[in-house]
Amino acid sequence: MTPMSTAFLPPDFFRRYSVSDIFDRGLECEVDLGCGDGGFLLALAQHEPDRLFLGVERLLGRVRKVCSRADRSGLENVRCLRAESRYVLEWMLQEGSVRRLHYLFPDPWPKEKHHKKRLVQADFIPVLHRVLTKDGEMLFRTDHEDYFSWVCDCMGASGLFSRVDWDDDAFYPKTDFQQHWESLGKPIYSARFLRHEF
Ligand SMILES: C[S@@+](CC[C@H](N)C(=O)[O-])C[C@H]1O[C@@H](n2cnc3c(N)ncnc32)[C@H](O)[C@@H]1O
Repeated sequence: MTPMSTAFLPPDFFRRYSVSDIFDRGLECEVDLGCGDGGFLLALAQHEPDRLFLGVERLLGRVRKVCSRADRSGLENVRCLRAESRYVLEWMLQEGSVRRLHYLFPDPWPKEKHHKKRLVQADFIPVLHRVLTKDGEMLFRTDHEDYFSWVCDCMGASGLFSRVDWDDDAFYPKTDFQQHWESLGKPIYSARFLRHEF
């Protein structure tokens, strides 16, 4: 049997996919939004072979890098999709199919005139709530203090998530951007949001 490639190439962008459509098995997965070159995604997938990981990234060169690295390592629990994060969560994944969202060092769009381009907006929080499992969570990390407050404010105001402690004991690799910012001595801000079940 030919092994499945890491690249997930949806045959149709106008339908929803279950986890088993993407991985050939499983009911829930974890999603790395804006996975970049995949350093974090691949390290976590290697460490947790029983969990399933989908990287979402809009730049083709980065997706190609993730896929060739994963294929070379023989990782069978990772897929990478070239698409826009909000579109994937809102229109491509089934409700209640994501156990954990990793939102790590996203583009902060620092200028006020660009704030509307930030991924997290008030109307994005119900999208997160829909796609996560009942006990789902989002892990968020950034070097950008203003965007950190923005995301915490949006999540808090929604009433759909609670901010809880981030358990530092669990294996959680540093992303490429985290290593870069830490090497420059920048502070890092982290938040973990648990989905409310009504
Ligand atoms: C600053 S980099 C961080 C990469 C990685 N998470 C890390 O921490 O090393 C942000 C990444 O998100 C991707 N990205 C930004 N906006 C996106 C969107 N709306 N949908 C998908 N990918 C996006 C960028 O192309 C880039 O690779």
